[in-house]
Parts: sequence; structure tokens; C-alpha cells
Amino acid sequence: MAEPKNTELMEKIVSLCKRRGFVFQSSEIYGGINGFWDYGPLGAELKRNVKEAWWRDIVQNREDVEGLDATIIMHPTVWKASGHVDTFTDPMVDCKTCKARFRADQMCDTPCPKKPSKKATECEGEKTEPRAFNLMFTTHVGPVKDDANVAYLRPETAQAIFVQFKNVFETSRQKPPFGIAQIGKAFRNEVTPRNFTFRSREFEQMEIEFFIKPDEAIRAISGAVSAPASGEPREDWGWEAWHKYWFESRVAWYESIGLNRDSLHIRWQEQDELAHYARATVDIEFDFPFGQQELEGIAARSDYDLSQHQKVSGKSQTIFDDELRQALSKLDEGQRAELVDSYKAARLKYLLSSGVEQELAEKSAEADGAGFLKGNYVPHVIEPSAGVDRLILALICTAYDEEKVVDEKGKEEVRTVMRFHPRIAPIKVGVFPLLKNKPELVAKAREVKKLLQDHMPVFYDEAGAIGRRYRRQDEAGTPFCLTIDFDTIGENGEETADTVTLRHRDSMKQERVRISDLVGMLLPQVR
Ligand code: GLY
Repeated sequence: MAEPKNTELMEKIVSLCKRRGFVFQSSEIYGGINGFWDYGPLGAELKRNVKEAWWRDIVQNREDVEGLDATIIMHPTVWKASGHVDTFTDPMVDCKTCKARFRADQMCDTPCPKKPSKKATECEGEKTEPRAFNLMFTTHVGPVKDDANVAYLRPETAQAIFVQFKNVFETSRQKPPFGIAQIGKAFRNEVTPRNFTFRSREFEQMEIEFFIKPDEAIRAISGAVSAPASGEPREDWGWEAWHKYWFESRVAWYESIGLNRDSLHIRWQEQDELAHYARATVDIEFDFPFGQQELEGIAARSDYDLSQHQKVSGKSQTIFDDELRQALSKLDEGQRAELVDSYKAARLKYLLSSGVEQELAEKSAEADGAGFLKGNYVPHVIEPSAGVDRLILALICTAYDEEKVVDEKGKEEVRTVMRFHPRIAPIKVGVFPLLKNKPELVAKAREVKKLLQDHMPVFYDEAGAIGRRYRRQDEAGTPFCLTIDFDTIGENGEETADTVTLRHRDSMKQERVRISDLVGMLLPQVR
């Protein structure tokens, strides 16, 4: 994973982000606050576009995914059940001399906060033994600040989906396989936030929990679980096929918003990296200038999450599947027993690993097996979990380009251009009157802006030479610019009246387009 670092490129990107209003340091006038970032006017639009594209493609355009918008602060027991209270920790060490604090597993490449020119390992001071440091931010609900009122800022959006699973299931008329998706803020008190916005303490996630039948149910209904294959979902897909489906769809989605396939890497987590309940996790990694790092993890989580909430809340998280009940009733005794035994064995394994003592676990697993025979099970989960902010950074890094161009006077210059996919570009169209002191040009340009602004974000600019205005939009990543000139207002005859110059950001090519054709021409490209 260690890749050559391109510090110079990263510095240019950070500088452009500040200069053009993509990303600012949070609370900058007070010296900033480490690990927190704000999105400026262009960044806010970019981020909205990315989240809207995800929501449209994942929730609105699919019949098998429902949306959720849950609170950031939840009942604290949620985080006990999920394991976050006990195990969501990083190993932390302190330098006894300079008192700086490091993540023990990142000592080799973390700059010493007190002496940034040195790496943590080179800092002379003796280090403490690693201690577990919980990454959740705590707060208190209500006026009394005592232990009974402690609550947590959610460290992931996923748990709200699990604890609302039954409500969504009962109100949406969905049945597995189906998903619940959520976009929202999450908070992690990272020991060493770093790499610009990549590892922040406050960030946003886009998560899907995709609920599937256990493989035993597929075998009962379809006879067998088919081998993982690409293509459209099938009835006989088990967890491995769904897992493959999701990481392939997620890679295709990243390509659809402008990440190059060559810059994306599929990395299967090693057995010793996996959470004990996880069957497999694939990370989609991206070539950032600071190295290859994770954009999204797609985890096959078995039925662990709903089982944990069932165990701790005492509320059943099983669902009834009549198709399964009927399929089981048609099998012969031997086949049925084999499937029920397999389901019971998996439940027993989960119960024992979650701390239930042997006798009770066996009794519970027996009851789960009996429930399965009647068509009940705890759904299994495939979780595609993406970080919005690191995706925004990946899109900015991909878009950033410098090229040598020759201006109208024959002078060579470097053009900085953000080559965002039109779908996610913050501004879709720049509209310019050729001259700002010609009322007819200004009025026509305003008219064109009004025509387009109900369909897409448009930026009106009348300041400076037209070449400078194009360059400003190149840096903002605006894919199209329109210039309203004397042809547009009919000064050069009927034929060119009501036409504009359409200038393309990437090729810098210009063409003449009728105003009445603009919406139909641009809309399909920016949606
Ligand atoms: N829910 C997985 C994660 O937050 O990484």
C-alpha cells in the first residue's frame, strides 16, 4: 500500500482548494481546529452533487433500496450492542518528553506534532506503552453531566439502519434481498487526523446495509446457491454473489462520476484484518497523491449486527419468509434436517462468540433452528460503506490538471483546469456577456442565465477579459461556458441571432449553438 508520495501535487491541490473556495480550515480565524474542515461555495456544491448522485442511483433509481435519515445522537446502548463502547479504539502512545500523542500503528509515518520536520519514531523521547483510546466523542443529554446521561456522537451511520431495520421492513413492503441507505455525519476522535480532509474527525458517510437471506434459505428455495458471477441479481445468489455484485457496482459508480478505473484498486482484507464476524471485506482504494488509500469498504457481515441488537434489546429482529416456509415443507426429511442443522450451527457460533454461555447458547440456537423451519431468520448483511469527504478529495485530485496553452496574443501560459465530470461539477455553465457596458448584451446574457438556472447551477460573470473569465471557470471545473456577443443580439443578421458561443472546458473548442437548443443539449450531460 505504501506508494510514492507526491507532496508537491498535494500542496498545489490544497492551495487551489483554499484559493477557489472548495475547502477551508474550520474556524480558521482562530487558528483552525485539527481534523475539521469546511466546504466553501464550490466545495459545498460539489459535495451536494456527489451525495445527490449517490442518493439518486442507490435509493431513487432502485426498487430494492429504501432511504433513512436518522439522528446523530442515539440511545447509548446502541453503541454497547454494536461493540463500539468496548472495542472502537486505536492504540495510542505518548512521548514522555514532548507529551505529543501518536497512534502506535502509525508511528513510522506520522510527523511529530511538536517537531514537524521529524517523524514520530525519530522523536528522542521515551514512549509510553500503547493504550486503547476510544474514538467516540461523548456528550451529555440534558442538563445533568453525569455518567447516566452520557451519549455519543455516532461514529458511523450504519447502526441507525440496523436499529430501524424492523420499522423500515414493516412499512416499506420490502423483503430480502433489499437495502436501507443513509447519508450523514459521523464523528471519530482520531488520534492523528491527517492528509488534508482524508482523515477528519467530523466527516460524512454514505452507507448501505443490504439485507439478504441466509444461504440455507437460498438452498431451500432454489436448490443450491449459485457460484458468484457478474450481471443482474438472481434468486439463487448467496452472500458471496451479493458481495461481488456490490463491489463491482460500486466501482462502476465511481467510474460514472469521473474516477479513472486505473486509479481504483480492489483489495481483499487479509483474514487477520477482518472483524471476527465478517466473512469477507473488500476495500476499494484510490491512488491519492499521498498513497493508495481506502475510499469504501464492502463488508459481508453475516447476521451479526441484527443479532447483536436482538440480544441486547430483547426485541426480535427475525423476519418471516413464507417462501422459505413453503420451500422447506416440500423438501424431504433429510434435506430439511441438513439445512436446519446448518442454520443452527451458524447461530450457535454467533451466540458463543458474542459471550452467551454454552448451555443458553445451545438452547437459543435450538429455538432459532425451530424458527427457521417455520420460515423465520435474522437477515444477513452486505455493507457498502463510503466516506463522502475522502471521495470529494479523490474527485478533486483526479480533476486537477495543468496544461500549457497559448493565449490569443501568442503567449504561452499554464492553464489550471479542474476536469470534473459534468455530473458532479459544482457549476455546470458560465454565462458571459462579451462586454459589460453594452446593455443589450447584458440583458440577453441575464435572459440566458434565467432560462438555464431552473435546470442546473449557472454562474454569471461580466468582469474582465473573456479569456480571464474562461480561466476562472476552468479552475472551478465548469464544463461549459456561453458567451453572448453581437451575433446573439442580431447585429450580424438573422441567421446568427439568438445563437451563443458554447465553449467546452476540456478541449477549449467553441461552437455556435441556438439558445433554444441549450437546455436539451446540456441537461443530459450534467445529470
Ligand atoms: N460502517 C462501517 C464504517 O463506518 O466503517
